[in-house]
Amino acid sequence: MRIIVTKDYNDMSRKAANIISAQIITKPDCVLGLATGSSPVGTYKTLVDWYKKGDLDFSEVTTVNLDEYRGLTHDNDQSYYYFMNDNLFSHVNIDPAHTHIPDGTEPDAQKACDDFEAIVKSCGGTDLQLLGLGHNGHIGFNEPAEDFPKFTHCVDLTESTIQANARFFDKPEDVPTQAYTMGIGTIMRAKRILLIASGKDKAAIVKEALFGPVRPQVPASILQLHPDVTVVLDEEAASCL
Ligand code: F6R
Repeated sequence: MRIIVTKDYNDMSRKAANIISAQIITKPDCVLGLATGSSPVGTYKTLVDWYKKGDLDFSEVTTVNLDEYRGLTHDNDQSYYYFMNDNLFSHVNIDPAHTHIPDGTEPDAQKACDDFEAIVKSCGGTDLQLLGLGHNGHIGFNEPAEDFPKFTHCVDLTESTIQANARFFDKPEDVPTQAYTMGIGTIMRAKRILLIASGKDKAAIVKEALFGPVRPQVPASILQLHPDVTVVLDEEAASCL
């Protein structure tokens, strides 16, 4: 595991964007695993800037996203479908047919999850998976549990995650309580993983995930067992290391 400590959020975003763009340049038809949330917003903005300058070409890139809320339609501005279009896809020359997000509009949870797992497999495996880190150690929406889920599945979100997301919704009853997410197995099958985290509020969980015991109660701790992980932190997130 390589740990890169950067000055602040902008610096973290630039370093992460550098790693992703190196992947695209060295393998133009790569498969990128993408995340949503606040952590990658600056990374996507930087990638868009570099695309606009002519330094990046997404025309052959395929993407698979970690997760999606169950029940949110594509035009809901809190859906991850909307987020990805808003922050990245609509600003670069990626082929929309090559972008894949679990289908939150599919009411049959088993079908939504099986279909998505099959898509990830049919893409030939993820070359580089970008991850953020939840305060309770979740990656994707794999919440602390008794075991590590192998495949894409439907999860009940924990109260802390529902509350953390509540700020994005007008009414508490609008906050989704379930999500479709890649499993820990799906994530771990990626050839390379890039974990980003910023801010003091992530410092304790960063330490626990990277140096604590590997256990499903801290889902991100499994990354210690992946052969090719790069972690990019800002100074605050690295402050307990
Ligand atoms: C998002 C995702 C989540 C977030 C995590 C951190 O697709 O999978 O695991 O990465 O909740 O969120 P932020 O970046 O908002 O702190």
